[in-house]
Amino acid sequence: LRASFAPRAEKQTQNFENRLQPQASTFKVALLGAAGGIGQPLALLIKMSPLVSALHLYDIANVKGVAADLSHCNTPSQVLDFTGQAELANSLKGVDVVVIPAGVPRKPGMTRDDLFNINASIVKTLVEAVADNCPDAFIHIISNPVNSTVPIAAEILKQKGVYNPKKLFGVTTLDVVRANTFVAEKKNLRLIDVDVPVVGGHAGITILPLLSKTRPSVSFTNEEVEQLTVRIQNAGTEVVEAKAGAGSATLSMAYAAARFVESSLRALDGDADVYECSFVQSELTELPFFASRIKLGKNGVEAIISADLQGLTDYEAKALEALKPELKASIEKGVAFAQKQA
Ligand code: NAI
Repeated sequence: LRASFAPRAEKQTQNFENRLQPQASTFKVALLGAAGGIGQPLALLIKMSPLVSALHLYDIANVKGVAADLSHCNTPSQVLDFTGQAELANSLKGVDVVVIPAGVPRKPGMTRDDLFNINASIVKTLVEAVADNCPDAFIHIISNPVNSTVPIAAEILKQKGVYNPKKLFGVTTLDVVRANTFVAEKKNLRLIDVDVPVVGGHAGITILPLLSKTRPSVSFTNEEVEQLTVRIQNAGTEVVEAKAGAGSATLSMAYAAARFVESSLRALDGDADVYECSFVQSELTELPFFASRIKLGKNGVEAIISADLQGLTDYEAKALEALKPELKASIEKGVAFAQKQA
C-alpha cells in the first residue's frame, strides 16, 4: 500500500538522476494556481516524475518565470506556461490530470471555511473550464475548504453534463502524511513502514485518523490517541500560526499532492496496486462525500475501502458520529453555492 512517492530504502541507494530516467513519460498534467506557495514546489515535484510528458502551468500572474526556471531541469517533461483567463482553455486541452491549488490560504485565526467566499468562485470558474476542455481528466481539488469545494466541483460538472464521480478527488493526502509522521515519531517506528488511514473530511474535527487501523499494528494508550488525533486535526493550524500571516502549509502540501499525483499516474499507467485516502463521492456513510481509503485504477476510483470503518474503537466511533453534522453542513453549503450560481 505504499505510494511510490514515499521513500523506500532500495530507491534511496540509487543515483538521483537514474531515478528520473525517461520510462513511460506519457501523461500530461495541468496545475492551476501554479505560481502560488503550493503551486511552485508542487510543479517542481511533478517535473521530477518519469511518468509526465508535459506539465501545463496556469495562473493569473507570475507563471512565465516559474515555467522558465523549471524548464531548465533535465527531467523528461516539457513545461508550458499559460497566463490569465484567455489562456485557461489551452492549458487544459489534452491533459490527463488537473491539479487545483488556486485560491487564498488561511491566516492566523481563520478557519478553512473563512476562505469559502473567495475560493468557491475560483474553483467554480476553473472547474467550468475543466468541464469544457478535458472532461475525462482526473481532477484533484486542493483549494480549501475541500469539504465544500469538492461538492461545488461536482455540481458544476453535473450542470455541464460531464460529472464522473470516479474522477473527482478532494486531496486529503496531507492528513495521511502528517498522521504517518506523528505516529512514527511518537512510537519510534521507521517512517516508511507507517500507514494510518484518515477518514471523514479535511477541516478540524472532520479529519478523523483511524489510529486503531495503523499498519503495522501499534497499540496506543487513550491519552496517546487523544493527543495524536488532536495534533493531526490541528496540524494545519500549527503551520498557519508558525508562519504568522505568511500563509499555510505549502511544502508539506506540495509533497502530499505530488504523492497523490504520482499515485494517480501509476494507476493510469496500469499499476493494479494503488491505494490512497481521498475525499470522494461515497456511500460508506449517509453523507454524499466522505474521505476514506480508495483503490485507484485507470478509470479513477475503482473501489472504496469499507474495511477501515469496521471494528472502530469507541473513541473513533464517537468521533465519526460527531464529525457528521459539520461535514454535512459544509457539503450542503457547497452544493447550495453551485446551485444558486446555475
Ligand atoms: P497562494 O496564495 O500562495 O497561491 C495561490 C495561487 O492561486 C496564487 O498564485 C494565485 O495567483 C492563484 N490564483 C488565484 N486566483 C486564481 C484563479 N482564478 N485562477 C488561477 N489561479 C489563481 O496559496 P497556497 O498557499 O498555494 O494555497 C492555495 C490553496 O490551497 C488555499 O486555498 C489553501 O487553503 C489550500 N490548501 C489546501 C491544503 C489541503 O490539504 N488540501 C493544505 C494547504 C493549503
